[in-house]
Amino acid sequence: MAEIIDGNAVASSVHRELKEELAGISAARRPCVAFIRVGEDPASVSYVRKKERVAAEIGIESRLHVLPENTQQNELNALIDSLNADGGVDAILVQAPLPKQLSERDTFNRVRADKDVDGFSNANLGLLCQEDPRAFVACTPAGIVELIRRSGVNTSGRRAVVVGRSLIVGKPMALLLMKKGMDATVTVCHSKSEKLAEICAQADILIAAVGRPQTISADMVKEGACVIDVGINRVPSSSTKSGYKLVGDVDFENVAPKCSKITPVPGGVGPMTVAMLMKNTLAAYKRHMGI
Ligand code: GUN
Repeated sequence: MAEIIDGNAVASSVHRELKEELAGISAARRPCVAFIRVGEDPASVSYVRKKERVAAEIGIESRLHVLPENTQQNELNALIDSLNADGGVDAILVQAPLPKQLSERDTFNRVRADKDVDGFSNANLGLLCQEDPRAFVACTPAGIVELIRRSGVNTSGRRAVVVGRSLIVGKPMALLLMKKGMDATVTVCHSKSEKLAEICAQADILIAAVGRPQTISADMVKEGACVIDVGINRVPSSSTKSGYKLVGDVDFENVAPKCSKITPVPGGVGPMTVAMLMKNTLAAYKRHMGI
């Protein structure tokens, strides 16, 4: 049976480290992150709330801006511009997904690179591509690297397969895994990939970022692989008060017995995304304060 990687425990360690680091800094002001949420998507409401709670716990100030569902691009841009210009704001996070009248690309690129703690802007993706240490790296893939490292998984020269090619996870994940120091041999699969099961079954490290429950079945996993499940899918459930439960992209019950390590959903990758957002916010603050 696999070792279950406890994302909550690793995230708590990161929070403690950041809190200690911040406590050791005496400066005129605390770090500050601004959250923008457009509309009332229930998942976005709960993610932003979680981020606010963790920021407070670490000692990071947060400001929440909620815009109506029918917000137009020029209105969202005006808010981003004012936060870009605000010397008291170190970090800006626009929660995705955005309503369909808004362009995520234009929105992410509107955020000033030195406040783009999501790492979604052209500038930060370019820096990541060049392995420049100044890059803000997207929080979910950065959190996965931290989980892999702290779990003692060796990636050097080993085969990593990333299933999913999104801007938020798949693409930056592939770049991070092939980076010097990680040194994995990386394959990226997506919805058009032929022989998906065969390719996945060659992975020493398998990253599932598809957004569809039960996509990775036991026959797609090599014996002894490390499996990272990025999926957060809401499926109907009669056994919960809310009427739904969260499941990943991996058929956990049947895959877990085959692998060496696996992340659960919830409590795997999710908490690490928040921890990396805090880490990036502290880094932005230090840069702004010249620390
Ligand atoms: N939606 C899902 N994941 C993320 C993330 O890491 N950042 C933002 N801004 N939105 C998200």
